[in-house]
Amino acid sequence: MTPTLAARNRFIADRIYKVKPSGIRRFFGIAAKMPDVISLGIGEPDFVTPEPISRRAFESVARGITNYTANSGLLELRERLAVHLENLYAVSYEAEGEMIITVGVSEALRCVFAAICNAGDEIIVPTPCFVAYEPEILFADGVPVTVECRAENNFEITAEEIEPLITPRTKAIFIGFPNNPTGAVLSRENALKIAALAEKYDLLIISDEIYDRLVYGTEHVCFAALPQMKKRTVLLGGFSKDYAMTGWRVGYVCADAELMEAFAKIHQYDVMSAPTISQFAALAALEIGEPFVQTMLGEYDKRRRLIVSALNEMGLKCSAPKGAFYAFPSIAKTGLDDETFAQRLITEEKVAVVPGSAFGAGGENHVRIAYCKSYAQIETALERIGKFVGRF
Ligand SMILES: Cc1ncc(COP(=O)(O)O)c(C=O)c1O
Repeated sequence: MTPTLAARNRFIADRIYKVKPSGIRRFFGIAAKMPDVISLGIGEPDFVTPEPISRRAFESVARGITNYTANSGLLELRERLAVHLENLYAVSYEAEGEMIITVGVSEALRCVFAAICNAGDEIIVPTPCFVAYEPEILFADGVPVTVECRAENNFEITAEEIEPLITPRTKAIFIGFPNNPTGAVLSRENALKIAALAEKYDLLIISDEIYDRLVYGTEHVCFAALPQMKKRTVLLGGFSKDYAMTGWRVGYVCADAELMEAFAKIHQYDVMSAPTISQFAALAALEIGEPFVQTMLGEYDKRRRLIVSALNEMGLKCSAPKGAFYAFPSIAKTGLDDETFAQRLITEEKVAVVPGSAFGAGGENHVRIAYCKSYAQIETALERIGKFVGRF
């Protein structure tokens, strides 16, 4: 049985009570126990890591490379990552001193918040967003100050919406685009205005760009590459989504050398180094992964089109997501709240989706549909959703 922390336990720190249990995991639990459920709940590629990438990783083990790497990661990987970022975004990071290979973006989040937050420091976080941001800020004794991205703006955030929330305690603005759960991307125009705000108030930008390669017919704006922004941007990225490598647990953080020294202190004591075999997989991904990224992207795009047109046809208003692999339709037409919608959909039609409110303010009356399932399964799921929605 999952323990609950409903009753206060004197051995448990106060900060733990500030964090609510994840609204996502609950639905995974239900889905796992029901046969025939099509789960569109999990934000994880259905693709297996491309075999040549895995092979290169296994070869590193066969060669006997099973030791720790440098704390900040294999130098060869950091050097290759520097070239990769330079080629894609014309942003230059030094392999020595400006990059750490982390245990996914998840660990990078922990390092960054623990390194920058004094108790009570505020981080502005646009919501709906990935479920780990607010808990990680709270675990670092920081204060998440949320601002709602609105459906009528295609879930983008603007500088005008952020500025009123800035106080003397504000340390950073968190940016997460392409976005989980909405699939929104940030336009260059909006990014430039947010960058100007960071300059004006001397704030950091922490930019989670884990879905950077998964954009559809639009550009991904790398925040660090905007004029003057490298020095005040913490760039978070990873291999989990773009290369279908969630289980390898490898990501990275890039920033100015002084900040990086602070992150490195935490990283070295928390994890020593990211798993060595996984770093070899990441190196292979950068060296030979591009055709696979393109193939997966093409497949996601087909599914995305299918989902968006089917949802709109059944009256669940859904603007076309421009990035990641999530659709975020409004379920207002059914008159149900998002929790009840998700609960009833799974019990009545065996399709798992995640209630939008699990991702914070602005998510209510929406559900997240992850299109990380085969085209055929998505077709079946859409038929079932159509049947369900037809009842209202
Ligand atoms: C926006 C976002 N950031 C970070 C993560 C964590 O990724 P990682 O596997 O690199 O820890 C996820 C995973 O779902 C995500 O959606």
